[in-house]
Amino acid sequence: MPGSPPRRTRIAVLYGGRSTEHAISCVSAGSVLRALDRRRYDVVAVGITPDGRWVLGPDDPDALAVRDGVLPAVDATARPVVLPGDPTVGGLIALDGVAVSAGPGPADRGTADLGAVGLGAVDVVFPLLHGPFGEDGTVQGLLEMAAVPYVGSGVFASAAAMDKQYMKILLAAAGLDIGPYTVLRAGQALSGDDRERLGLPVFVKPARGGSSIGISRVDAWDDLATALKAARAVDPKVLVEAAVVGREVECGVLGSLDGGGPEASLPAEVTVASSAGSAGFYDFEAKYLSDAARFDVPANLPAEVTAAVRQIAVRAFVALDCAGLARVDVFVRPDGSVVVNEVNTMPGFTPTSMFPRMWAATGLDYPRLVDRLVALATRHGTGLH
Ligand SMILES: Nc1ncnc2c1ncn2[C@@H]1O[C@H](COP(=O)(O)OP(=O)(O)O)[C@@H](O)[C@H]1O
Ligand SMILES: [Mg+2]
Repeated sequence: MPGSPPRRTRIAVLYGGRSTEHAISCVSAGSVLRALDRRRYDVVAVGITPDGRWVLGPDDPDALAVRDGVLPAVDATARPVVLPGDPTVGGLIALDGVAVSAGPGPADRGTADLGAVGLGAVDVVFPLLHGPFGEDGTVQGLLEMAAVPYVGSGVFASAAAMDKQYMKILLAAAGLDIGPYTVLRAGQALSGDDRERLGLPVFVKPARGGSSIGISRVDAWDDLATALKAARAVDPKVLVEAAVVGREVECGVLGSLDGGGPEASLPAEVTVASSAGSAGFYDFEAKYLSDAARFDVPANLPAEVTAAVRQIAVRAFVALDCAGLARVDVFVRPDGSVVVNEVNTMPGFTPTSMFPRMWAATGLDYPRLVDRLVALATRHGTGLH
């Protein structure tokens, strides 16, 4: 109808989740809720509790902020909701049977007599979930089943980036330097040959972890058994990597809307102060608890190194078949060569997180970044490409 305002895009912000990064995800979601322009977006917040229950969240950024030093969590007593993997539903269903203002979607059909209430179709899901059951292809699989477009990478890239073994295989196949490593499956020990090849120190890490949980640096082979045990508490499959000597640098990558290839942000540098009691690397403590980590956004690197990092970040994004966004973490050796450490398909997304800060430094502020991700998701849709 001429003159009528375009229908607002209905976005479900999905947050919380079953991983150790539950609280970080809530904080990210609060920031996205705040940034979404309500004149253009109709927003529904959907929380996943630590035990995996889906509930309708408050559309209130303040409820998801850190308050008086207390980290936010999803309220398990809120109204239960589901997103069925059925494309003819295409949206959320509340399970309490209470009439709510249903949206225009096909979800209204026939659900009331089941005691369930359709909440209308969802145009885009923003799965702000980190780690297993969120960043690893599982939620992406559900959304593909449901045919609901979503922000970020699809099933394959999400799963590949979550498993550091297969991530490295794909990065190496694309010709990227990933440094020496080996994989130990459950029960396997590090061979003498591998000890010699990798040398000390090594980093021992769970193959499918995050937030540095279960990661140790080993400076003496006598400490290897303890490190393997810590990593295997997270995942029976572990990686043992040669420690890379170099600066720790991160780079944001975004899909492009104009049909061009993915674009890289200016890189940033993380420096972790090595003091008594600190692990001397970017461990859980330095990431979330202490102020040992310093961030330089953008990183103060020689121009040619900046260019190399940005180019390598884009190559890593393409190698894993990422979509939407990813943060590519690398080491820059003293000679300027770049080793890729990992690719995060749903990086931390608070305004003080590295990914939004790197894009802000590159000229794309937080609200425009969120807009671009939603637009990319809408354009990308679901299914094969
Ligand atoms: N091979 C390595 N050489 C040097 N430092 C490493 C190496 N692997 C990991 N680290 C340190 O450990 C941190 C966490 O490792 P990472 O592989 O990024 O795991 P996570 O997925 O938990 O973030 C890195 O940010 C870095 O400080
Ligand atoms: Mg990391």
